[in-house]
Amino acid sequence: MPATPLIMDVDTGVDDALALLLALSSPEVELVGVSTVAGNVPLQRTTDNTLRLLQWAGRDDVPVYAGAERPLVRDAVAADDVHGATGLGASHLPEASTSPAGDGVEFLLNTLQARPGEVTLVATGPLTNLARAEAQVPGVLRQARQVIIMGGAVQVPGNITPTAEFNFYADPHAARQVLASEAEMVLVGLDVTEQIWLEQATLQACTGTRAAFCRAACEPVIAFESAHYGFAGMHVHDPVALGAALWPQLFRTQQLWIDVETTGELTVGQVVVDQRALASDQERLGWPVTCAMDVEQARLLELFTERVLQN
Ligand code: RIB
Ligand code: CA
Repeated sequence: MPATPLIMDVDTGVDDALALLLALSSPEVELVGVSTVAGNVPLQRTTDNTLRLLQWAGRDDVPVYAGAERPLVRDAVAADDVHGATGLGASHLPEASTSPAGDGVEFLLNTLQARPGEVTLVATGPLTNLARAEAQVPGVLRQARQVIIMGGAVQVPGNITPTAEFNFYADPHAARQVLASEAEMVLVGLDVTEQIWLEQATLQACTGTRAAFCRAACEPVIAFESAHYGFAGMHVHDPVALGAALWPQLFRTQQLWIDVETTGELTVGQVVVDQRALASDQERLGWPVTCAMDVEQARLLELFTERVLQN
C-alpha cells in the first residue's frame, strides 16, 4: 500500500511536536510539508519550533511554511501557560539552520490544487490558514483527500473555557468557515482526545532516543494538567487527531449538524449541535460534519507509544 501524501498545519506546541514525530514514524503516510499558524505560542515560535523539531528528527528535507500570525477577527491568544514560554516545554532543541520555505496559505493552495484528491491534510492548530486558503480559492479544501481537524468540543465541556476547545476558541471565525467548506472532513474534538491520557510513568519508563526530548517537552504540560485535572499525565490531542488519518478503524464517528459560536461572551468557540427532532435536515443550523465520538483508547495509545516513545 503506497504511503498517502500528508500535509500538516500546526501551532507547535508540545502535542503538535508529538504528532509530527508520529507522522515521521508512520509508514502509512509521507509528510510532504508543514504549514504553521499562531496558536499555542506566536507564529515566530511555532515556526521556529517546527523547523527545530524536523531538523532534530533528521528530516529537515520536509519544508516548513509560515502562515497566519493572528486570527481572522479576534485578537491572538496563546497557551504558553501549558506549553511553556518557547512552546516546546522544558526541551532545548538545537537552533534550526533551515528557514521557512514560503507562505503557509500559498503552500496549502499550491499543494491541494496540484494533487487533487490525493493529499490528506491534518490541522492541529487554529484554522486560520485553512480558512484563508478557502476564502482565496473557494472549494480548495474539497480538493484534499481528507481534512482531519483537531478542534472543538461537540458533546463534552471545553478546555480553555467551559464551552470551548482552544483551537476553536482562538479562531472561531476560521473554524466556522472551514466547517462550511463541506470538505471530506473528520472533526476530532475533545470528545475523543480527552479519552486518552499519556501517563507520566509511561514517559519515564520509555528508553527510545526520542524519549528524553518527549519527557522534557511534556514536563510543563503534565504539571499543568496534573494541577488542573488531578492526574499525573497529559492529553495528546494532536497525535490522536493524526491517528484518525492513520488508523480510522479505531474511531467511531457520527454525522452531526454543527456550527461555531463566534461572538458569545461565555460561549465564543463553542460547537453548537442541532439535534432538534426536525422533519427535514434542511431546516438545521450549520453543516453536516463527521465527528469522532469514540476511540479505541488503549490501542491508539499503544501504537503512539511504540512509534514515538520507544524508538
Ligand atoms: O485544545 C487542544 C489543542 O489546542 C491542541 O491542538 C493543542 O496543541 C492546542 O493547539
Ligand atoms: Ca496544536
